[in-house]
Amino acid sequence: MALKIWRYNSETGDRELKEYEFDAPDEATLLDALDIVKDRHDGTLAYRKSCRMMICGSCGMRMDGAAVLACKTRMYDIAESGHVPVISAMGNLPIVKDLVVDMQPFWDKFKAMKPYLQPGYEEPPDGKEHLITQERMNVIHKEALCINCGCCVSECNAMESDPEFLGPQALAKGMRFVGDPREGRVVERLEDYNSEHGIWECTRCYFCNERCPKGVDPRDAIAKLGAEAMRLGVDRDMGAKHADWFVKSAKTTGWLRETELVPKTQGVISALKETRFALSLFRRGKVPLPIPPHVAKDVQEARALLEVVQAQGRRGAAGIVQGERALARVDLKTSPDEAPASRDAPEVTPDEPPVPAEG
Ligand code: SF4
Ligand code: SF4
Ligand code: FES
Repeated sequence: MALKIWRYNSETGDRELKEYEFDAPDEATLLDALDIVKDRHDGTLAYRKSCRMMICGSCGMRMDGAAVLACKTRMYDIAESGHVPVISAMGNLPIVKDLVVDMQPFWDKFKAMKPYLQPGYEEPPDGKEHLITQERMNVIHKEALCINCGCCVSECNAMESDPEFLGPQALAKGMRFVGDPREGRVVERLEDYNSEHGIWECTRCYFCNERCPKGVDPRDAIAKLGAEAMRLGVDRDMGAKHADWFVKSAKTTGWLRETELVPKTQGVISALKETRFALSLFRRGKVPLPIPPHVAKDVQEARALLEVVQAQGRRGAAGIVQGERALARVDLKTSPDEAPASRDAPEVTPDEPPVPAEG
């Protein structure tokens, strides 16, 4: 098989795409292939590794421009196809040498999330442990799987334009504690994460979900944080106001009235500043006349959906998990009456009857 590897020396700035050809066993992963290159062909190649089993998060890098865990990536089919993949360091982090990046900015954001429990409960008087429903723990099940590999950060569009953005890994870590029923400082955390470079700066490109090798789905974690922030009244940020307006808009006319977004959320002064832009949109036929308002034919469906969500009392993260579960059912083609096949089902403990939704 063959690999092309971007070599880089941060001291000299030298950069070179080098190709290596070598024999490898059928079961070789990308990490095995790099080991062969380093052991037998070029001992100066630099990359990180430790566990070799998708646990430690050390071996994040890019293959053909997309972040992967090297120890999770099988090479047989690629080698068989004759394709020579290009291996490079992860994105959005400074390169130290070859495939090794400086993780300090990553760890700084991780620490800024206060990645530890700040309990808000008294010890049970009888010395027993607190019991927590499976439904509550499933809200943070995926977030707890994170191995801090940085693959999501590597592909984050928002971080590319704003390196100060907290980013998918840090925010997923934040949700792991915001959603923990034992946490005592949920509102304070949400206030922090609603900062200028926080939750609402995400562009919803979903690349972090696509590239995460552990199924954490950081974008979904950010959606849960946004939903929890709004449920608990932490909604000063413009992003929260936009989300709120879209719900009202869908309820009243059944569609998203984006042209009313600025005056409704940013106020009249901001709207006046955008007048020229609005007029140019109007001239090109991109702004419908507000009167009479356009009401979707099936607006009652949007209203009924909202009523169902409100009646179930599943605002916040629980509502997002419920949506994930519904989508999983669609994927699995199970009926609503069947026991969910997914371990991510929010209200099911294996071998136990479903737990009723909490209010
Ligand atoms: S969805 Fe948001 S957090 Fe995830 S990669 Fe895109 S911009 Fe970054
Ligand atoms: S969320 Fe996924 S991709 Fe991001 S650091 Fe954690 S395990 Fe890696
Ligand atoms: S070497 Fe540990 S995750 Fe790949």
